[in-house]
Amino acid sequence: MQQLHNSTIIILGATGDLAVKNLIPALYELFVEQTTINFSLIGVAQNNFSSAELLSKVRPFLAQFNQEKWDLFLQNSFFITTDLTDPKSYIALEKLIINVETNKTGSRIVYCACPPQLFIIAARYCVQYKIIEKLSSHKIVFEKPFGMDATSAQELHTALTNILAADQIIRADHYLAKELVETVTYLRFTNEIFEPLWNNNHIEYVLINLKEMVTLENRAALYDSLGVMRDVIQSHALQLLSLVAMEAPLKLEDQSLHAEKIAILKKTQITHAIFGQYIGYKTHKGVKQETSTPTYALITCAIDTPRWEKVPFIIQAGKGLDKQETEIKLVFKKPLCRLTPGCPIFHNELIIKIAPQSEFTFSINIKKPAVNDEIVPIGLSFCYHCMWPYTPQAYRVIFENIIQDIQSISVPFAEILEAWNIVDTSIKTQGNDIYFYNIGSSGPVQATEYLQAVPGIRKGEVK
Ligand code: BG6
Repeated sequence: MQQLHNSTIIILGATGDLAVKNLIPALYELFVEQTTINFSLIGVAQNNFSSAELLSKVRPFLAQFNQEKWDLFLQNSFFITTDLTDPKSYIALEKLIINVETNKTGSRIVYCACPPQLFIIAARYCVQYKIIEKLSSHKIVFEKPFGMDATSAQELHTALTNILAADQIIRADHYLAKELVETVTYLRFTNEIFEPLWNNNHIEYVLINLKEMVTLENRAALYDSLGVMRDVIQSHALQLLSLVAMEAPLKLEDQSLHAEKIAILKKTQITHAIFGQYIGYKTHKGVKQETSTPTYALITCAIDTPRWEKVPFIIQAGKGLDKQETEIKLVFKKPLCRLTPGCPIFHNELIIKIAPQSEFTFSINIKKPAVNDEIVPIGLSFCYHCMWPYTPQAYRVIFENIIQDIQSISVPFAEILEAWNIVDTSIKTQGNDIYFYNIGSSGPVQATEYLQAVPGIRKGEVK
């Protein structure tokens, strides 16, 4: 493994939400574990800030804090205030890198945690001013969303492949670095019991929830140009959908997996969409008064394959909601009624919970003890973190993979393009009918009503 101390990691957008909540904590964790003081982080930000300010922002997101280690980490971290559209900034950045890297050789990783509109210009100047050498081990990581629609994603891809070699471009989606997301494939294809049931003979519908309680005041200006479709549905939610819906790959290897994911995304289309915005969103700094950007979406997808004919894949994602819940739920058909007088009313469910806890639950109906014919649903659960208390956080996995030059951490462009093809039409019309909801509620009433009408939905999950 290439050691962290041989890497210079340059974060463009070092005081933004992503860097503060995820990237810097992930690097600190790696730094602490590797106990080396040669590792360098260079943070590039628009605003001037001190190390103390940085610490106060990052501290709540550190899993463990040790003052001595943090001081060492800061000694190896350098910050520069620049405008990413100005070539002079890159001259100054290059000088800083040269100073920092004196007597060190190793790889450079530029992480673009800046607005997507700056990706091309940042990549171009990074190469022009020798921050990144083309055809070297240097990499540039581009956060999602990769583009704003299929056309701009294609333009971005073309522009970047003219600037960099293909293996220098890393398209990140941190959901793919989550342990439980990776596990979906293994659950499906290393257990004989699931595959025979994984189709429209047995499954009524699939629900993918990305519900978040957090609101957007700290990143509203950027979010307003994205909305929920570009922020999480085009990337995270459709990645989950493709892992659940794809046909069995020949091998559990990247190429086969990608081919199946692309094939299933090509067959997926949105058939129904409800958009919402939480009340108060328009008051956030950076949001236009007349904005119609959705902070919530409930979309239904149809997948045109024999396996999934008539099985709705429902995706629900939003901010300012009543729950923090990332999960995939496969709801099976209602069992045949063979009891008199009562029949089981609950559908079996397989729930893959990604957050806040990682666990699998399979709910089955059993007879209530000492009562004839009374059926109750119970959950057979496996609590992931009870057995393995530590699972590395996703951004740490991303950095480790890039440092070790594991290319599979990058989402293939063809997958990204297919995902844009699915959401593009809905994004064009998302502002037309937007329903408002209270912060802390389950979303717009219209979405609740829609969910309530889905056969097999449990009352408790749509309140
Ligand atoms: C990011 C989105 O990609 O994913 C955020 O930009 C969202 O809006 C986040 O909150 C969710 O990630 P996680 O790992 O907390 O589920």
